[in-house]
Amino acid sequence: MVITETNADLRAQLRAWREAGDQIVFVPTMGNLHAGHLRLIQAARQHGQRIVVSIFVNPMQFDRADDFSAYPRTRQDDLEALERASVDLLFLPTDDQIYPRSIDSMTFVEVPDLGNDLEGESRPGHFRGVTTVVSRLFNLVAPDVAVFGKKDYQQLLIVRRMVEDLAMTVGIVAVETERESSGLALSSRNSYLTEAERRQAANLYAILVRCRNQVLERSGKFETAEAEAREALEIAGFLPDYVSVRRQQDLKRPGNSDTELVILAAARLGKARLIDNIELSLNPNS
Ligand code: PAJ
Repeated sequence: MVITETNADLRAQLRAWREAGDQIVFVPTMGNLHAGHLRLIQAARQHGQRIVVSIFVNPMQFDRADDFSAYPRTRQDDLEALERASVDLLFLPTDDQIYPRSIDSMTFVEVPDLGNDLEGESRPGHFRGVTTVVSRLFNLVAPDVAVFGKKDYQQLLIVRRMVEDLAMTVGIVAVETERESSGLALSSRNSYLTEAERRQAANLYAILVRCRNQVLERSGKFETAEAEAREALEIAGFLPDYVSVRRQQDLKRPGNSDTELVILAAARLGKARLIDNIELSLNPNS
């Protein structure tokens, strides 16, 4: 695996591969890699010959400095996991390669509406940080395809919207959420949970599954299902931020004719803030 730390080295290596006719597939991450990230890397194989992974804990997308400094950094384990996964290139930029100026004076990319709802409302500035770093990474790597997880459903939609609005040529591939056998979605932030909280945390997905079944059975009564899921989260010891039934295509609230839906939830448990989601279809033929 080639490891590059500067933009110049990254571009030189990628140019050589591109000239040899290889398609470049890109998986951006913040490190602390787990089986969810590895699932993206596996999916990446189907889309090109060269897999590029980046690890950069992006300060611009953290709304709190203590959250940024506490974010788990596991460089050695990550390197070994990427070697085992036969990744071709790891981009490990230093801060100045991504932010040549102070973050506050950098040009930014922001997706309106979609970026200010749900996670955007709970974490002001978060998605501006995500879209700014992802667009800079896209310009540096110039991938044919980039892979994102459905675990961060709103992030995936925002990146797709940015690509569409700015006429970027990269193709975006979405990958299903990797879960523990308990149902808990893998996340770097799970390491903030105690053993007991980790067992409790599995309730988040169980409650989403129940909420989906309720919507399917009584199709239409979204508010009741949302309120009951919220209450179930509180009973299970969470502090819920939101539980919301939305349309898959744009995360707007569904109308009577919408059938392809997703339920998104965010809730605090101990020191962690967990997010998860579940898709559902009200179309009887699907
Ligand atoms: P990070 O949280 O490291 O996630 C990197 C990618 O892995 C994202 O596309 C995310 O959706 C995916 N992922 C995380 N957990 C997953 C799981 N359990 N199953 C499947 N995929 C999962 O998301 C980010 O980093 C950053 O915002 C980033 C896009 C790198 C920009 O800084």
